[in-house]
Amino acid sequence: MIKFIINDRELEVENGKTILEAAFASGIKIPTLCYNKELSPYGACRLCLVEIAGGGRIGLHAACLYKVTEGLIVKTDTERVKKARKIVIELLLAGNPDSEKIKLIAEEYGVNKTRINLGTRTDCILCGLCVRVCAEVVGMSAISFAGRGTRKKVQTPFDKISDTCIGCGACAYICPTKAIKIEQV
Ligand code: FES
Repeated sequence: MIKFIINDRELEVENGKTILEAAFASGIKIPTLCYNKELSPYGACRLCLVEIAGGGRIGLHAACLYKVTEGLIVKTDTERVKKARKIVIELLLAGNPDSEKIKLIAEEYGVNKTRINLGTRTDCILCGLCVRVCAEVVGMSAISFAGRGTRKKVQTPFDKISDTCIGCGACAYICPTKAIKIEQV
C-alpha cells in the first residue's frame, strides 16, 4: 500500500492506482470526459487536471494518467486547477456548443460562454472512448484515430464501411458528445 495526501487528507491506496482512481474511491470529485473505469486511460480531455504540490512532478497533471507514489501531495481544487479547468471547458464549448454533457460541466464551473473561436465545430472531442471500447471491450478495433493535429479524427480504415464493425453501437453509446450516429446501410 502507498500513503499519499490529497486535499490535506492522508489516504492509502494499492500500488499502481492513479490519482483519479484514488480520488473516486474516497469520494473526491474530479471532472472527466474521456475516462471510463472499464477502459485504459487516455488523458485526452484534460478536464481531470489536478495540482501536484509535493512528492512528485510539481505542477498540473491529468489525474487519470498520474500514478500515486509514496508521499505525493495532491490538490484537486486550487485556484490554479479551477482556472485551468475553465480554460479546458471554454475550449470544449468552442467546438461543441450544443453538447449537453459539456454544457452541464460548464454550468458546474460557472462557464457560460467561451472566449475562444476555433473557426469550426467538431462534435467529436477526440476523447478516444469509442476507439478504446471497440478495441478493449468489443474486441473488434473497427475504428481508430487517423491524421494528426487539426486533421486528427476517428474513422474506419480508409474511411470506408468497415468489414469488422459488428454494429453493436458501443461507440455511439459511450460517446460523451453524441458525435457518433448509428445508421442502417
Ligand atoms: Fe483525464 Fe480526460 S479524464 S484527461
